[in-house]
Amino acid sequence: MPVPQIHIRPGNPDFLDLPWDQPISDWTDPHLVEMPTGIHRHPVVFVAFEEGIYAIKELPVRLATHEFETLRTLSERTTRSGRPAGLVIRPWADPHQECSGAVITRFVDYAFPYRELVSGGGFGTRRTQMLDAFAGLLVELHMAGCFWGDCSLSNVLYRYDAGAIEAVMIDAETSRLYDILSDGQRREDLDIMQMNLAGDMADIAASQGYDLDSADLELGFDITKRYDALWRELTTDLVIAPHERYRIRERVGRLNDLGFAIDDVDVIPFGSSSRIRISVSVGGRTFHSQRLRESTGIDASENQARQILSDVRYHDAKYGEKGEKGSVTGKAVATMHWRITRFEPFTRRIADLRPEADPIQGYCDFLNFRFAIASEREHDIESESALEEWIESGLPGFDPAITSREPDSLP
Ligand SMILES: Nc1ncnc2c1ncn2[C@@H]1O[C@H](COP(=O)(O)OP(=O)(O)OP(=O)(O)O)[C@@H](O)[C@H]1O
Ligand SMILES: [Mg+2]
Repeated sequence: MPVPQIHIRPGNPDFLDLPWDQPISDWTDPHLVEMPTGIHRHPVVFVAFEEGIYAIKELPVRLATHEFETLRTLSERTTRSGRPAGLVIRPWADPHQECSGAVITRFVDYAFPYRELVSGGGFGTRRTQMLDAFAGLLVELHMAGCFWGDCSLSNVLYRYDAGAIEAVMIDAETSRLYDILSDGQRREDLDIMQMNLAGDMADIAASQGYDLDSADLELGFDITKRYDALWRELTTDLVIAPHERYRIRERVGRLNDLGFAIDDVDVIPFGSSSRIRISVSVGGRTFHSQRLRESTGIDASENQARQILSDVRYHDAKYGEKGEKGSVTGKAVATMHWRITRFEPFTRRIADLRPEADPIQGYCDFLNFRFAIASEREHDIESESALEEWIESGLPGFDPAITSREPDSLP
């Protein structure tokens, strides 16, 4: 069997035992697993290894190399894009042929294609979550200097993220990376998104048996509005008087509330007056997920992390060591106590009940349930009995997962 040229990123298998002598659509390899996909032009298959599940997409060498390199650089700048694992070149094939190259990306855990979110002729009650997901994704990619060039419903994967939806860009075939995008480039990218989404929404309406008049053709415009508001919020400098320094903290707090981590704050004299201009450089939307990882070692997405951090604080306040409460060691002990007595046993039980779903999302849905019954009954509900009640009620709020982290069986 001819051996292809394979470039592998660290932490991934070597993929050498896959039958590269055949096009991927002819494979019958035991590593193959079925996973749902969005609409796509190039052949895509999924393979399972000890290290995880991977998507393999076949495309001509030049395009494959471009996509792999773009994803690699982008993954150093943002967490919102697919993680590339390998680039395969079949030197024996004509480099213009579809099967001459392949990009291997890590399967995005617990993610699913958009059709799982469709209800009626559009996104129903999830529409607002979709607006936020797309506006947030485009803002983050643009901040990272990425002109996408093909933002569409199928080029994004979706994940439940507490009460929100997290969107991850997976198709970077048309993307170009810059240090900074010009306003014109951002506008062009938004125009492409609007056009693509109008087409996607018309397709959804048709596929669900609705006529074009009822298609949600406004979705892309509404995403642009939200995008513009968020972009302004993140990039507009603040001009303050010297005695208004509290407004710097206010602004940083507001950006943190939106989930954005702050890289730097620059204080610059403003003209000849005594006022000062504050310029904040914003990192990715990882503020709460970073804090959760630092304090507990738990990896969660941004809104999940925000919700879990409130649970840790609630637990600390309720069960924290009396004398040491508030001290650094006291806090660390209480957090460890929370993790051992609450988070780990609860997520294990949730995973046993619904092994195909994201247990951290299940924990967040349980927290919502506990909060709802406590407000209804107007008193705190002990977590253990709230969990029992949530399970007995059939895990309300916890959407059945569409994909799984672990394949049923590995070859
Ligand atoms: N890393 C991944 N994790 C999970 N699913 C993936 C991954 N990569 C691709 N997919 C699935 O495969 C589909 C096709 O991928 P992709 O959009 O990259 O292909 P494409 O043929 O280039 O699409 P297009 O028609 O937009 O050019 C996606 O819609 C998605 O459902
Ligand atoms: Mg695509």
